[in-house]
Amino acid sequence: MTRKKITVIGAGNVGATLAQRLAEKNLGDIVLLDIIPDMPQGKALDIAETGPLCYFDSAITGTNGYEETKDSNIVIITSGVARKPGMSRDDLLTVNVGIVKGVAESVAKTSPNAILILVSNPLDAMTYVAYKISKFPKHRVIGMAGVLDAARFSAFISMELGVSVENIHAFVLGGHGDTMVPSTRYTTVAGVSIEELIPPERLKDIVVRTRNGGAEIVNLLKTGSAFYAPSAAVVEMVEAILKDKRKILPCAAFCEGEYGIQNLFVGVPVILGSNGIEDIFEINLNEEEATALHKSANEVELLCNKVDTLLGH
Ligand code: APR
Repeated sequence: MTRKKITVIGAGNVGATLAQRLAEKNLGDIVLLDIIPDMPQGKALDIAETGPLCYFDSAITGTNGYEETKDSNIVIITSGVARKPGMSRDDLLTVNVGIVKGVAESVAKTSPNAILILVSNPLDAMTYVAYKISKFPKHRVIGMAGVLDAARFSAFISMELGVSVENIHAFVLGGHGDTMVPSTRYTTVAGVSIEELIPPERLKDIVVRTRNGGAEIVNLLKTGSAFYAPSAAVVEMVEAILKDKRKILPCAAFCEGEYGIQNLFVGVPVILGSNGIEDIFEINLNEEEATALHKSANEVELLCNKVDTLLGH
């Protein structure tokens, strides 16, 4: 059996950490691509040299060109600029549209059957760019955000209650931005809604902290944005796809009427399997949740309108 081929575009903080994590889980052979000469080659070699210590056989190739990425099964796009303190994810739009556009064109040519996972920010808009440019079917273009946001939500709940993260199922909807919708009703600890376990005022603080989870890290790091949790979130998605787990995870998916959202990538629970998005998992939202989700979708739509202008569509 040949190993799966996973390409990571962008060998910066997120990309390089992701390559290391994918290798340590033996999920396939990895190609790490960046525009900076020699840098991805150096990082790939360094990661390969951890193989005997971390017990993996994945081959890791660093490159500046797309030839080595040919016929990848999964391509993860992390290329782009990251936030600095005081910047919102949306401030990255113009620069990252150009970067993701160029990358998506190249990937569509060299790996026409790949599943694309987007990480570059602003996430929902970048996923839209990759979808438009690659012309891949919607089930093969997925944005990573909800898994990260849910992990942050879970981590904060675990800290609050002093219980294992393994008991927590966090539920997050909406765009990857300040309007994201962490659902307290559907977030459970050992099957019990957190609304029954955490007083409303505390819960509100935890929801706000989750929404601002990325900014909290940017303000501490000062020179870049989070990468340990984002890379781990991508691994969970890659594993669900390559092992055809049909795992329900919150991802940015192209909605065509689901949750009342039309023609937009927004964070919704999806079933992830070997075809990518096997289905969007629709559940009943109460009025408050639906209103918050649509507000978030409206923000994403505004950004996508800007994307259309930038792409000349
Ligand atoms: N092709 C390939 N790589 C590129 C390209 C391109 N066209 N343009 C930029 N890059 C590379 C940069 O050279 C850099 O090495 O992308 C890498 C980005 O790495 P970092 O600056 O360390 O940023 P990182 O923290 O990894 O975040 C990347 O993910 O979470 C999001 O908001 C974040 O948009 C940002 C992205």
